[in-house]
Amino acid sequence: MSQKIAFITGANRGIGFQTALDLKDSGAKIVIGSRDLKQGEQAVAKLRAAGVDADVLQFDITKAADHKAAYDYFNSHYGHLDILVNNAGIAAGVFPGTGPEHSAAQVPQDLLHKVFETNFFAQVALTETLLPLLKKSPAGRIVNLSSILASLTLHTDPKSPIYNSKSFAYDASKTALNAFTVHLAWELRNTNIKVNSAHPGWVKTDMGGEQAPMELSDGAKTSAALATLPENGPTGGYFHLGQPLPW
Ligand SMILES: NC(=O)c1ccc[n+]([C@@H]2O[C@H](COP(=O)([O-])OP(=O)(O)OC[C@H]3O[C@@H](n4cnc5c(N)ncnc54)[C@H](OP(=O)(O)O)[C@@H]3O)[C@@H](O)[C@H]2O)c1
Repeated sequence: MSQKIAFITGANRGIGFQTALDLKDSGAKIVIGSRDLKQGEQAVAKLRAAGVDADVLQFDITKAADHKAAYDYFNSHYGHLDILVNNAGIAAGVFPGTGPEHSAAQVPQDLLHKVFETNFFAQVALTETLLPLLKKSPAGRIVNLSSILASLTLHTDPKSPIYNSKSFAYDASKTALNAFTVHLAWELRNTNIKVNSAHPGWVKTDMGGEQAPMELSDGAKTSAALATLPENGPTGGYFHLGQPLPW
C-alpha cells in the first residue's frame, strides 16, 4: 500500500504544529504548510526530533498560485493525499474585545473581507484544488478548523457560555466554513472521504491568548481524532473532543 500523506496548513506554530505532533503515530508522512519557509523548516526540525515523519511546503492559503503548487507537489511526490487539515486561520483583532473590529454594526469592510478570504474562500478553493488527490485515497479525511464561535445555536442562547463573546467577522467566517463542511460532506457521501468541522477548545496560542484555559498539548486532540477517523466514523459533523456541537 502507498504511504499515507497528510497536509496541515498553518502548521509552523500553534494548533497546526501540535496536530502534526499528535499525528506522529498515525503512520502518515506529515507535510506542514508554512507561509515563512524558514519558520517551517525550524518547525520540521522540531517535529523530526520528536519522531514525526515531517516535511515542509511553503504555503500561503490566500495565494491561488500556492494552491496549484500544493497540488503539483502532492501529485508529483505521492500521487494522492489522505488527510487535509484546513487549520490556517486568522482572528479579527484581539479577542475577546468590544472594538469595531468585533461589531456587526461597525465592522470595517476591509477587515470583514480579509477574514472571510482567509477563513472561508481560500479554504474552499484549496479543498477544491486538492479534492482529486483526496479522491485517490482509500480513506480521505478533511478537517475544517472551525470554532465554538461558529455556532448560531449557542450565539442565540442567552444561557450559553459564548452568548456575550461575539466577534462578528471571525464568527461568521467560521459559520460559513461549517456550511462548507455540511455541503461538501453531503456531496462526498458516497465516497471514501469524510469531512468534519473541529472546535479545538479555547487554546493557549498566539490567537487564543494567555487567558485560554486549554494547554496547547491538548489543543490538537479534536483535529487529530477527526483526521484519523475509522471507516465507520462520522461525516458532516461538528465536534469538540468527540462530542457533537450544535450548529
Ligand atoms: N486558539 C484557539 O483558542 C482557537 C479556538 C477555536 C478555533 N481556532 C482555530 O484553530 C486554527 C489554528 O489556530 P491557532 O490558535 O493555532 O492560531 P495561531 O497560533 O494564530 O496560528 C495560526 C497559523 O495559521 C497560519 N496562517 C495565518 N494566515 C495564513 C495564511 N494566509 N496562509 C497560511 N497560513 C496562515 C499562521 O502562519 P504565520 O505564522 O505565518 O502567521 C499560523 O501558522 C485557526 O483556524 C483558528 O481559527 C483556534
